Amino acid sequence: MGKRKEILLTGGLGYIGSHTAVELLENGFMPVIVDDLSNTTENVLDGIEKITGIKPVFYPFDLKNKKKVKEIFSKHPQLKGIIHFAASKYVGESVEKPLLYYENNLCPLIYLLKQALSYGVKNFIFSSSCTVYGQPDKLPVDESAPVKKAESPYGNTKQIGEEILEDTTRAEDIQVISLRYFNPIGAHPSAEIGELPRGVPQNLVPFITQTAIGLREKLYIFGDDYPTPDGTAIRDYLHVVDLARAHVTALQRLLNKQNKKKFEVFNIGTGKGTSVMEMVKAFEEVTGKKLPYEIVGRRPGDVTAVWADTRLAEKELGWKAEKTIQDALRDAWRWEKKIRKSR
Ligand code: UFG
Repeated sequence: MGKRKEILLTGGLGYIGSHTAVELLENGFMPVIVDDLSNTTENVLDGIEKITGIKPVFYPFDLKNKKKVKEIFSKHPQLKGIIHFAASKYVGESVEKPLLYYENNLCPLIYLLKQALSYGVKNFIFSSSCTVYGQPDKLPVDESAPVKKAESPYGNTKQIGEEILEDTTRAEDIQVISLRYFNPIGAHPSAEIGELPRGVPQNLVPFITQTAIGLREKLYIFGDDYPTPDGTAIRDYLHVVDLARAHVTALQRLLNKQNKKKFEVFNIGTGKGTSVMEMVKAFEEVTGKKLPYEIVGRRPGDVTAVWADTRLAEKELGWKAEKTIQDALRDAWRWEKKIRKSR
């Protein structure tokens, strides 16, 4: 095998970043990881090594440090692409601390792009979100649906990030794919890496697994009065390994010059909507554990239902989710048991 192409992976020790590091390594690339460890730990590197047999190079720093950002490009003059995960991701926190979110999610993006241009790194993958659609008028939602006014500063940083990138591709010699993720869940099937939520989990699946293991008394289901078949809200949950794979596929599209435009966006979901109640039932079936829950009021800012039209990703990227919600819940549960044992 020839020399591995180096890919800068910001936030590469985070939940989606670490799974993408594994997929990159398994597909002949060499990730160069930057992470400020604000929401993860250095042990994740060992997990990546256990799965792949390779310990990638890792730089612990905050991308708001412009000098360090420049240094990474001069240290790695052979970089072929950037996958930019590093960002703050808590919707509620972003409402409380908007400036923190605008600064963390937009300044590093700009610094990275400036250095990418000056060092001639022409391929960039951005972590966007289905949150840009708000509550879509039509379901499943496709990429031509209007971007609605963001419900939170977090969501707004994803919209503005896409605008920054699109404008930059118009003016400069760089090409970008923005992946609009639906709801990533699960963990690597090896249980060597997974999600490490900070404090009380905000997201459904880590809350479910922490409840099942006895760390939380019960799951609070936010609303059963939505206009959906069982009254609970509907999302498109996809396995994090499928999502990680989408990044490698998108990167290969850019490297092989198969992209049709300099700025492209793709929905990354399964195309299937699942309600909160269906998730609870699926978890119980897969694990054989009864999950205590209570219905409480709706969570502010939550939409009723969203799931992806995935035809564009299938046709253009040749990517399709392969794993089921059952696979993801089984892997999330295996990971939860593993991390509780090791603590
Ligand atoms: N939910 C509960 N109880 C919980 C947690 C969640 O009932 O304890 C419900 C929510 O109300 C929602 C569904 O489970 O109906 C999924 O909630 P998540 O928090 O797991 O996911 P969201 O769809 O709200 O959020 C995700 C990402 C965000 C992103 C958002 C919109 O986590 O980063 O999608 O794109 F902004």
